[in-house]
Amino acid sequence: MSAQTPARRLTTRDIAKMRQRGEAIAMLTAYDATMARLVEMAGVDVILVGDSLGNVVLGHETTLPVTLDDMIRHAAAVKRGSERALLVCDMPFGSVTDADVAVANAVRVMKETGVEAVKVEGGLVAVPVVERLVAQGIAVVAHIGLMPQSVHQMGGYYMHGKDEASAERLRSEAQALEKAGAFAIVLECVVPELASEITHMLSIPTIGIGSGKDCAGQVLVVNDLIGLSVNPPPSFARPRADVASVVRAAVGDYVAETKAERGPIPLPRRAE
Ligand code: KIV
Repeated sequence: MSAQTPARRLTTRDIAKMRQRGEAIAMLTAYDATMARLVEMAGVDVILVGDSLGNVVLGHETTLPVTLDDMIRHAAAVKRGSERALLVCDMPFGSVTDADVAVANAVRVMKETGVEAVKVEGGLVAVPVVERLVAQGIAVVAHIGLMPQSVHQMGGYYMHGKDEASAERLRSEAQALEKAGAFAIVLECVVPELASEITHMLSIPTIGIGSGKDCAGQVLVVNDLIGLSVNPPPSFARPRADVASVVRAAVGDYVAETKAERGPIPLPRRAE
């Protein structure tokens, strides 16, 4: 592609074709324009403006306090920073409590941010929501397994699908969400054998996080990937860099230089 040719943004059909070709889908979160541009330049296919925004950027302990306005502000910034990746915005906790509420909120997201799709956490309860969103022309990524918005109801963060009852529930949720019209489905912390089985069972791509290597794609929180955090990353995320150390070293150097170059600063004259 020449430098003058504007990049064409990927569409949901491109993602479906990647699945048909057996080409893996690389998805990563971003929460601002600069990071969106950088991850896209590195070849990411799909950028997720995740509600992990809450933990990673806004300093909350969980994703529950994240508001629709928070998501819209950051998704709009990601849109401004990117030109090629397909953009997906998470619907935050409480924004998809029923199909009417979900349509009203997702329409706001689409109009005010310019993203191509929304992501909805939820199993069978999310099926009517996904159906209505899709009927309104909104592209939807589903999300099952570990659902951080339900952390208190689920009783913590852990692997899903370990026993047959939970595995069977995940299988039927995945199939029902595909039937409802989701164009992709995130499997978070699903035991790898089951994630692989669901991947083969569905025509839409599965996007795994902490679910082994056999999904059709992978998603990670960008800060976990690049080591930009004060907390250790989850065990499944292998950091490829230690950006936090680079930041500390650069800022430490700046602080030391500022103080050394200026020496003792004359004290202000006291008013007589
Ligand atoms: O909010 C988020 O970042 C997510 C992904 C990690 C799947 O939902």
